[in-house]
Formats: sequence, C-alpha cells, structure tokens
Amino acid sequence: MKNILVTGGAGFIGSHVVRHFVNRYPDYRITNLDALTYAGNLENLRDIENKPNYRFVRADITDAPAMNELFQTESFDTVIHLAAESHVDRSIANPTAFVMTNVLGTVNLLNAARAAWDGAFENKLFYHISTDEVYGALGTEGIFTEKTPYDPHSPYSASKASSDHFVRAYHDTYGLPTVISNCSNNYGPYQFPEKLIPLVINNISHRKPLPVYGKGENVRDWLWVIDHAEAIDVILHKGEIGETYNIGGNNEWKNIDVVKLLCSIMDRKLGRNEGESAERITYVTDRAGHDLRYAIDSSKLQNELGWSPSIQFEEGLEKTVDWYLQNREWLERVTSGEYQTYYDEMYAS
Ligand code: NAD
Ligand code: DAU
Repeated sequence: MKNILVTGGAGFIGSHVVRHFVNRYPDYRITNLDALTYAGNLENLRDIENKPNYRFVRADITDAPAMNELFQTESFDTVIHLAAESHVDRSIANPTAFVMTNVLGTVNLLNAARAAWDGAFENKLFYHISTDEVYGALGTEGIFTEKTPYDPHSPYSASKASSDHFVRAYHDTYGLPTVISNCSNNYGPYQFPEKLIPLVINNISHRKPLPVYGKGENVRDWLWVIDHAEAIDVILHKGEIGETYNIGGNNEWKNIDVVKLLCSIMDRKLGRNEGESAERITYVTDRAGHDLRYAIDSSKLQNELGWSPSIQFEEGLEKTVDWYLQNREWLERVTSGEYQTYYDEMYAS
C-alpha cells in the first residue's frame, strides 16, 4: 500500500506516470495534483479517470497554504514531483514563471512534506523529477554522469537546477527522504506540440513549414516516455534515499535527422510522395543559448537497479506518429485557441 501524490499528472510525462501507477498498483492510492496550465489536459487521462484508486485535485504548487492544507489532510507517504514549466523557449520569453513554479513551487512542496511528516520519515519519499539539461551542454565528445557539475544555460534549466539543489539541501539539512532522477528528452503520445517532435508532426500534417533552429546540428538523446514511467517506478521502489539517477535512451540524434526521419515516416503513412514533406524544412533563427549536445550515462540505474530502455528511437517514432494520426482530434483541440497566438509569436521571424 502506498498513498502517492503525483504533481503535474495532467501533463505529458505525468499522465503516463499516473496511468502506469494506477494500472499496475490497484492497491496504491494515486492523487494527481495539477493546476491545468496550457500544458495540463485531463483528456490525457480519460482511460483511467474512473478507477477507484485515482483522484484529481486542481491546485497550484505556488500556493503554499493550499499545499500545506493538502498534506495535513491527506497522509501522503510518497510524492512524485513532476509539475513544472517545461519548455525552454517559453523560459526565454518569460523566465519569472519558471522561477515561480519550478523553484518556489518545489520549495512549497518540500515544506509541506516536511511539516506533515514531522520527522517521522520511515517509509516516506519525496521523489523529484528533473532533467539532463541541468548539466549544461556537451561538445561532440563526452557524456553526463551523476557526478557531472551543474552548468545550466537556459532559464528553464537554471530553474530546474535550483529546484534540484533545494531537494538535496532538504535531504542534507532536515533529513527529508529524497531521491532525484535526471532524464533526457522524452517523446511519445500526449506530448504538447510546442516540443520538436509533435510540432513537426502537426506541421507535416497541415503542410506547414518545418522550423529547424540554426543548422539542425544539435543533438538530443531520445527516450520513449513509457520507458521513463517504468524507470520512475523502479527508482521509487528500489532507489537509495539521497541518491541521484540519470535516465537516458542511448539514442542520440541530430535534430535535422529527427525531422527528416519524421518526414519520411509521415509521407509513407499519409500516402504522399517520398520527399514531399522534407521540402518544407525551413532553417530559422537559432534558439538563444542553444545547448549543442546532451548525452546521458544511465549505467548506474541500469547496473544497480536493473532498468533499461525497451525500444529504440526508430520504432518509438513510428508508434508516436501512429498515435498522433489516430488522435487527430486531440491534436486539433490542443492547437486551437491560445496555441495559435503562441505559435505566431514564437515563429514570427
Ligand atoms: P508538461 O509541460 O507537459 O507538463 C507539466 C504539467 O505541470 C502540466 O500538467 C501543468 O498543468 C502542470 N503545472 C505547471 N505549473 C504548475 C503549477 N504551478 N502547479 C501545478 N501544476 C502545474 O511537462 P513534461 O514534459 O511532462 O515534464 C514533466 C516533468 O519532467 C518536468 O518537471 C520536466 O522538467 C521533467 N522532464 C521533462 C522531460 C521532457 O523531455 N519532456 C525530460 C526530463 C525531465
Ligand atoms: O533534455 C530534457 C529536456 O528535453 C526537458 O527537460 C525539457 O522539458 C524538454 O522540453 C526537452 O528540451 P529541449 O529543448 O531539448 O526540447 P525541444 O523539443 O524544445 O527541442 C528539441 C531540439 O529541437 C532542441 O535542440 C531545439 C530544437 N527545435 C525545437 C523546436 C520546438 C527546433 O529545431 N525547432 C523547433 O521548432
């Protein structure tokens, strides 16, 4: 039995984590706390919303009194903290929102857990979900390990690095039982189309230009989102208190190669002429402070806890495209309204 609070469970990764725990552990109680920002969507959880071990609470983690009250009344023993502002480009446009949610929101949750648990830390866990971007950028060589010094470059990664430091500080100062994982780029169903892969899928569908920042030479390590949910399960149950685990897909790809692969998969699936979509690739102004390359060494997680990624990128990308083509209404709904304003402002030049 566990009584788990998942924050950010209506977002991309959070919805997969909620689904995973609700389905795999019918005797665990899963509370999904989410503010339902532009990135949160309860439609992502339609298939499990009526399960008896699941419930949803709409709340904002920047609201400290609300967090304290919830922890005082609910007897959570475990927190899986995913709620965050997560998009680098938005952090460049509006850094303060990232400080509020990612730093202050995390500290509010740490305070609420510490007060509710009141030193009775046995069988308690505060699990903080973080990113490989805290380690900065690699050149053509090298790999991030758990010992790589933090060197964030974007307001997003600076806010995530700060939140990681607070989590470690609460462990070291107050003995709060914490664990952190730092993961590489996720992809798969339900990802909001501000991120590269769903944005390109959406634009290919509508025969729109496919924006590639700079020369498209930047490299990301891609992980199937369901493998991330599985890794979180393994770390939650078997990870050591106070430790950090890197999670990665061993799938390094240049952005331009990702976009070209998507073009060719979609031309085939949509019955278009091979090469039609690739003609719409458009090189646009580079992202400010754009990290060249991320690569993650997840051998600690693989060797000590026995997790490994289940699929390679090409297979996962086929599945991802299939999901978006079979769920066009989802894509239409999340790209109507505010998304269009965001897109027009972001891709104006
Ligand atoms: P997302 O943007 O899809 O979802 C974030 C969720 O948090 C949304 O449901 C949103 O409504 C909620 N939220 C935002 N602000 C909130 C607030 N103030 N109070 C309560 N809820 C709030 O993000 P994602 O891509 O699913 O990322 C989830 C977590 O995983 C983040 O912490 C992110 O830093 C981390 N992460 C993401 C990736 C990736 O590739 N997407 C990789 C590594 C780590
Ligand atoms: O590495 C983990 C991180 O991965 C997470 O912490 C972040 O929450 C998540 O958003 C992701 O960050 P990235 O900045 O790497 O993801 P994004 O999909 O925004 O961009 C992937 C790469 O593609 C990056 O090099 C920028 C580039 N890009 C992105 C967009 C949206 C383009 O070339 N064109 C685009 O239109």
